[in-house]
Amino acid sequence: MNTCAFLLILAVHIHADGIEGPTAGCTFDEGSDPSLCEYSQGDDDDFDWQLFRSQGTSHASTDLIRGSYLMVNSSQHAPAATGHSPGALRVYVRVNGGVLGLPVWNVSGSHGHQWHQVELAVSMFWPNEYQILLEAIVSKERHGYIAIDDIMILNYPCYKAPHFSRLGDMEVNVGQNASFQCVASGRPSETETFLLERHNGKVTTSTSVKHLNYRRFVASFQLDNVQKPEQDLYRCVALSPRGAGVSNFAELLVKVPPSPIAPPQLLRAGSTYLIIQLNTNSILGDGPIIRREIEFRASHLPFSEINGVNMVTYKLWHLDPDTEYQVSVMLTRPGEGGTGPPGPPLISRTKCAGEWSSESYCISPRRSSCNTLCSFRTV
Ligand SMILES: *[C@@H]1O[C@H](CO)[C@@H](O)[C@H](O)[C@H]1NC(C)=O
Ligand SMILES: *[C@@H]1O[C@H](CO)[C@@H](O)[C@H](O)[C@H]1NC(C)=O
Ligand SMILES: *[C@@H]1O[C@H](CO)[C@@H](O)[C@H](O)[C@H]1NC(C)=O
Repeated sequence: MNTCAFLLILAVHIHADGIEGPTAGCTFDEGSDPSLCEYSQGDDDDFDWQLFRSQGTSHASTDLIRGSYLMVNSSQHAPAATGHSPGALRVYVRVNGGVLGLPVWNVSGSHGHQWHQVELAVSMFWPNEYQILLEAIVSKERHGYIAIDDIMILNYPCYKAPHFSRLGDMEVNVGQNASFQCVASGRPSETETFLLERHNGKVTTSTSVKHLNYRRFVASFQLDNVQKPEQDLYRCVALSPRGAGVSNFAELLVKVPPSPIAPPQLLRAGSTYLIIQLNTNSILGDGPIIRREIEFRASHLPFSEINGVNMVTYKLWHLDPDTEYQVSVMLTRPGEGGTGPPGPPLISRTKCAGEWSSESYCISPRRSSCNTLCSFRTV
């Protein structure tokens, strides 16, 4: 049903100490200070907003509200049919010329012959550049007008829309749940919808809204079992008919728990011990490594033991003689779920026990001969 769209772009540049000087905005009135109103028509669209001034026009007698404002006459862009809506008005907040994303606020349907005030609380941080885009979409449903006027950029808090505090970057390990806490000031109304918007436009709805005190609340969002492709920018949006609150974009970093590429190296084998070198200079996944552990088991037994290691070489004690062991290294990075899978195992055999030094006895190129000797000696 929607045919055309266009954009009006309002650029907002913020300085290190916030939006400076007098509040800016566009009243579209004749004789208003054009330096306070920095806007442009969009390029990638079907038509432009039209500046309407009731004064001195022959349209003064039409059903349009008097005044000076930007408007879209839907009958000039779409043939009429039957219905109730002349179209929709959508508002986008674009940061640093990035993707448009989803509208942070929108309205459609017929809203009578009067103005409605809407507030947009955009949490801005230096040195980013912000653009507010206003898009009118005309429908074939019904002839009518979509108009905007008195766009004010104020450097003090909104009255109706909640303001989000800075949303910090977050780091999680693959497979964990990422929990975003969007803290805002203002009073959320029952009609408020809280969304976590990914930079690509995908949204997650809030799992809970909790009041911290009468002026502050926190909306929580959880992304379950996050994987590497979910690493992206996210922001919080509070949406209601009265307006919208929009936070900054924060980065979700998804890290892969580390795992050694190569097995540990055998430095020496005795009848009851193995001395190994961890060999963890090359890893798969992400650092930093905060813990190293050795997992080992006798090859013929199903259960393994884990020992923490704080040096690059390690002696495994109290092993059974003449037994094959599998030894691998596990690495841990910070955060929940930061332990990676065990690396490839070193498969190594302890030497034979005996009355004599098994080490000198069992040096044999053929293991079978050593086995025979061991069993003979220990019977
Ligand atoms: C809107 O467009 C229609 C059709 O072109 C026209 O008849 C009407 O006068 C326009 N309204 C205004 C206020 O320009
Ligand atoms: C705003 O847009 C969303 C998604 O496109 C839609 O579900 C919602 O109904 C719209 N709201 C209004 C008031 O049109
Ligand atoms: C993630 O959250 C779900 C519930 O939403 C829970 O069942 C699961 O155990 C959580 N996973 C982790 C790794 O904490």
